[in-house]
Amino acid sequence: MITVAGFNTAIDRFIQIDALKPGQVHRVRKEKTYPGGKGVHVAQTIAALGEPVRLVGLVDAAHEQFIARQMSARGVQLRGVEINGPLRQCLALQESGGSITEILGQGPQLSQVEQDDLLREFGRSVENSSLVILSGSLPRGFADALYAGLAEYVHGLGKRCLVDASGEVLRKAVGAKPFLVKPNRDEVSELVGHPVINIEAAHMAVKVLRERGIAMPVVTMGDLGAVAANETGIWHAQLAPTRLRNAVGSGDCFLAGLAVAIKRDMPLDEALRLAVACGVANAESEETGFAERSSVEALLPKVTVHRL
Ligand SMILES: Nc1ncnc2c1ncn2[C@@H]1O[C@H](COP(=O)(O)OP(=O)(O)OP(=O)(O)O)[C@@H](O)[C@H]1O
Ligand SMILES: [Mg+2]
Repeated sequence: MITVAGFNTAIDRFIQIDALKPGQVHRVRKEKTYPGGKGVHVAQTIAALGEPVRLVGLVDAAHEQFIARQMSARGVQLRGVEINGPLRQCLALQESGGSITEILGQGPQLSQVEQDDLLREFGRSVENSSLVILSGSLPRGFADALYAGLAEYVHGLGKRCLVDASGEVLRKAVGAKPFLVKPNRDEVSELVGHPVINIEAAHMAVKVLRERGIAMPVVTMGDLGAVAANETGIWHAQLAPTRLRNAVGSGDCFLAGLAVAIKRDMPLDEALRLAVACGVANAESEETGFAERSSVEALLPKVTVHRL
């Protein structure tokens, strides 16, 4: 079992309009509402790849059924912790040219009781999991050091912990030396203190993270692919999408592929191949943060992987 702590569940609205013009009225061409948040993306892609997965995250009374239905349809065991306040709401506006503008809600401010409930549920779920993923922003109320503390807890149980976070939460988590961190270009630039804009710089960055005690650091570089390191070496993998439709959530699907590969003890080059195929499968489809197994399998042989 893989546990995904994706605490900050969201309700995502995806809206297509002709062109975004500030201060003007817009007519919607197409719209859809999804359960969202990084944890949802990671968990549903892990399930699509065939691994048992559990998601621990917030739900509210208005959306509990909606989220539970989709998670169940996609094969994810949901451990929802109900809160009073409304969940975070996120809006993605796609213009006909393809560009996407995202507006991310602040989300609920959790009481101490709600925080305790969530952490209790997390603890229960970790007990019978062999791999744990901490993914996305923290609901307001939690301290920046939360992921660092949870990563130490998971490590203390002899289990591997994968962290996808940003800013101070990521910096503190790195101090706790989780098995894996997966920053993107911007996140790793902030972490190492200089711009990571090409594969050479990403190569340097994973080396720095290895020196800081991360067993398997991975840096995702959007269209440039990704670089990963472990004790066997450092690899770069990449694939250009046939048709780029919506790359939001590609990092989450990438992480899902990586987690499944780690669970299956795949060598690093093959793990990276699976992760990139998942990231690109997401980018080629309209839905945010979901990769279908059939698309991933079709892309796998096309990914180029080489040792740096
Ligand atoms: N435009 C693209 N072209 C090719 N591959 C892409 C593209 N966008 C994403 N990918 C693939 O998906 C992986 C993850 O993407 P990216 O680095 O953008 O993650 P991210 O910024 O963490 O995304 P998010 O946080 O929205 O999930 C990349 O390493 C790459 O393999
Ligand atoms: Mg990301």
